[in-house]
Amino acid sequence: MQNLDNLKQEITQEVAAANDMNALEDVRVRALGKKGSVTGIMKTLGGMEPEQRKEMGQTLNLLKTEIANVIDNKAEELKKKELDARLKTEKIDITLSPRFERRGSVHPLSQAIEEITAIFADMGFSVAEGPDIEDEFHNFDALNFPPNHPARQMHDTFYLPDHEGQDGDEARRLLRTHTSTVQIHVMQETKPPIKSIMLGKVYRSDYDATHTPMFHQIEGLVIDKNIHMGHLKGCLIDFIKAFFGLDDFPVRFRPHYFPFTEPSAEMDIGCDRSGGKLVMGEGNDWLEILGCGMVHPNVLKNCGINPDEYQGFAFGAGLDRLAMLKYGIPDLRTFFEPDLRWLQHYSFGPYDQPNRTFKG
Ligand code: PHE
Repeated sequence: MQNLDNLKQEITQEVAAANDMNALEDVRVRALGKKGSVTGIMKTLGGMEPEQRKEMGQTLNLLKTEIANVIDNKAEELKKKELDARLKTEKIDITLSPRFERRGSVHPLSQAIEEITAIFADMGFSVAEGPDIEDEFHNFDALNFPPNHPARQMHDTFYLPDHEGQDGDEARRLLRTHTSTVQIHVMQETKPPIKSIMLGKVYRSDYDATHTPMFHQIEGLVIDKNIHMGHLKGCLIDFIKAFFGLDDFPVRFRPHYFPFTEPSAEMDIGCDRSGGKLVMGEGNDWLEILGCGMVHPNVLKNCGINPDEYQGFAFGAGLDRLAMLKYGIPDLRTFFEPDLRWLQHYSFGPYDQPNRTFKG
């Protein structure tokens, strides 16, 4: 018994002294392995008297379990130590200074969307969205385009090849040529009063310095009782003031034709081109800004709205063009070329606030 106590103490000390997993494993083999000290004593049980064997057997089993526990605890402790050491050495230095040349920035188009949305939100407009892939009903029919209107021609509109003519003309699908499609969705889905803007990509078969096959439009729709041209004018003049930061400027609503509005107009603002540079808001020249008009009664009817009860106005402008005018970008095509130098020059910092000069 005395020997066993000594042995236990000895092994426990060895376990305590082991300072890595290999050393601990050595201790384990020397005590509990096939030729280990404890195993050796177990083997002597066979030559004992039954009474003594029983007593010693119990004592030895207990000793074995105690030693195994001590070893297991030590193993846990060593593993934790190893992990702590690894965590210390493998630490990633997150204090590395940022590389400013790789900093992201806001595309001028996104900036324009932010600014325009903020201005119209101040006037109580919500933002509506619709799909880029449309049918002829939403792009043309509902908007009062006659069946033979030139805009429907193949060379202006991108039709989707797999649906071309398949289920008759009405089922043909196309890439929307204007955001007016969203007006139809909004009028079909919501009851007046309606006050929404729509912004997004539109597609036409065109390519030069001022036309790209994909570009962006901003459109607005107001439907309520007793809405008239005065509301249209006031709303658009306020928008131009806020967006371009102009206090006062010459403005004219020049009669025009759109199938979906009656009367229709184009809004021009005064500008000066005499110095070889465009100055907005003053001078003897005119700059066309957007299209607008009172929603045609047929369009209201096509969307289930009674034109005797409700009237409204709509307007639409090229979003890219508004951005070009405001930020002084000369070529539309550059918007869609991923040229980092261009982006560095024309883009905005992530924290630049949209300007909101509208105070009405
Ligand atoms: N949808 C017209 C276009 O693409 C713009 C517009 C919208 C004009 C709403 C009047 C009213 O040219």
